[in-house]
Amino acid sequence: MADGARPVTIGFRHHDGTISWGQANAGSLMTLAVELGVAGIEGQCGGYLACGTCHVHVSPDWIERIGSATPDEVLMLEFEPGFSPLSRLSCQIELSPALDGLIVTIPGA
Ligand code: FES
Repeated sequence: MADGARPVTIGFRHHDGTISWGQANAGSLMTLAVELGVAGIEGQCGGYLACGTCHVHVSPDWIERIGSATPDEVLMLEFEPGFSPLSRLSCQIELSPALDGLIVTIPGA
């Protein structure tokens, strides 16, 4: 959870290169994306590792900081289009001050 005093800013990069920016103090990347209405992130299962509709790609420098997908995430992600070593389920990434400025990419196209 973020510190509550200052919201964390996250960017969601679309296929056309544009970025939707959002801010929040708490929750996951998925909940922020759904609140923003980011196309390509649906969060159908509500963050319970059961749908794969919150798939994002994280750049190599950021994946080193936040970590690769867990084995449970990989079980969901390996059948998703665009699965790669940079894939994460955005519902499994909790917002924290350390993520301020993170930009994730919506896979596909
Ligand atoms: S919202 Fe379903 S796996 Fe992330």
